[in-house]
Amino acid sequence: MEIYLDTANIEEIREAASWGVLSGVTTNPTLAAKENNSDFVSVIETIASLVPGPVSAEAVSLEAQAIVKEGRALAKIAKNVVVKIPITEDGLKATSALAEEGIRVNMTLVFSVNQALLAARAGAFIASPFVGRLDDIGHDGMELVKNIVSVYKYYGLKTKVIAASIRHPQHADQAARAGADIATVPFQVLKSMVKHPLTDKGIDRFLEDWNKLQNSTVKIHK
Ligand code: E4P
Repeated sequence: MEIYLDTANIEEIREAASWGVLSGVTTNPTLAAKENNSDFVSVIETIASLVPGPVSAEAVSLEAQAIVKEGRALAKIAKNVVVKIPITEDGLKATSALAEEGIRVNMTLVFSVNQALLAARAGAFIASPFVGRLDDIGHDGMELVKNIVSVYKYYGLKTKVIAASIRHPQHADQAARAGADIATVPFQVLKSMVKHPLTDKGIDRFLEDWNKLQNSTVKIHK
């Protein structure tokens, strides 16, 4: 499973990219607003230069022609920009038009297998089921990821499944086991994925023993 960072924060992206684990980035209007930088184009331009993989930038228009126009403009920012479009009738129309032009689309706000199936049929490059938001209303978000993965596999659909709305490290673990192609995770979740108390304990113990050895070696040489 590939790991994308779910943020519009340049410093977080720079740091995660330096770990060598980042395959892409997803943003949305909420994440962009958090950064308080109204020059969205330059934010996406910078992100796209830091990450060689796909960088999702969301269109905010609601009508098909306007989404297509916005999508073309977003795709022009950099070669690795993927246009994020919410699943609606107009969104599907825009997705198929953009896909025909070779522009990659991440169909977002997916909450059912039917929506994921339609996204794939319209030619979306990625479909984004929102795990956390389904969990929030008492549904099983990861079950949806599993179901989409198996339906795509069964019908040989090439659209990638990205587990989105990831809230904690267990979500990332479950997304990998569910066969998601990608998980897009907030920076704090990525940091938690690195950690294990036994790793910290192990490092402390190794250092302690190493230092003991150094001290005893110094004594012997004296
Ligand atoms: C990413 O593509 C989604 O927009 C994002 O994961 C949504 O996350 P949230 O439900 O925590 O806002």
